Amino acid sequence: MYTDTHAHLQKELLRGGLEQALERAQAAEVTTIMCIGYDLESSQEAVQLAQRYPQIYAVVGVHPHDAKQLDQNTLDELYKLAREPKVVAIGEIGLDFYRDLSPRDVQRQAFVQQIKLAQELSKPIVIHDRDAHQEVLDTIRREKAGSNGGIMHCYSGHLPLAIDLMKEGFHISFAGPVTFKNARKSHEVAAHIPLDRLLIETDCPYLTPEPLRGKSNEPAYVVHVAEAIARLRRKPVEEIAYLTSRNAAQVYRLNK
Ligand code: NI
Repeated sequence: MYTDTHAHLQKELLRGGLEQALERAQAAEVTTIMCIGYDLESSQEAVQLAQRYPQIYAVVGVHPHDAKQLDQNTLDELYKLAREPKVVAIGEIGLDFYRDLSPRDVQRQAFVQQIKLAQELSKPIVIHDRDAHQEVLDTIRREKAGSNGGIMHCYSGHLPLAIDLMKEGFHISFAGPVTFKNARKSHEVAAHIPLDRLLIETDCPYLTPEPLRGKSNEPAYVVHVAEAIARLRRKPVEEIAYLTSRNAAQVYRLNK
């Protein structure tokens, strides 16, 4: 059984029907899905979906793209939301210096404010990092942001950085790009990190894995991410499915 540790199932993003996508996930043995918020509204929707479907859990937070939105009122609302049942982490939060959709200082402030929110609630965090590797690591160290565990989502850095992040308490999650032939850096990291720090995700509807590129992504396709990693590690895919689901249950504390 597989766990998709990072999916966006919100109406705004998911093309096609949610019910059908969940049926295909079930048929593919994807039995646990984390639905990730990116602003207040999508976080509220993630919580509603988690209340409605037993296999869905919610993660609430404001994405660096939307960091401008994070005022005190939004922080208060996130705090309330995060205390609902089945909200398992704060995210996705972080820094995106590739698209720079919010000014960098605003992103930095929102990142730190939400790290502190997670610490207040003793919850793990889900980090989005694009072209900001060193600053994300420095922030994590300074704020002790891994104190309740955390996930580097759609990991795109090199192996030494992954090792530094694991030392800070983080798990490393791979999405569709690890299935791409030319993704040598991702292959190296996925092949070498300890198996107890490895996670898989779709980040749907984005980043569709091979051999389905061109289609809209959905949780059922996380199986292709697992298969790519199984090939790199020379292990049966069932073992990767089992280990990554166990790791997800541990970092998201599903059994507590
Ligand atoms: Ni995402």
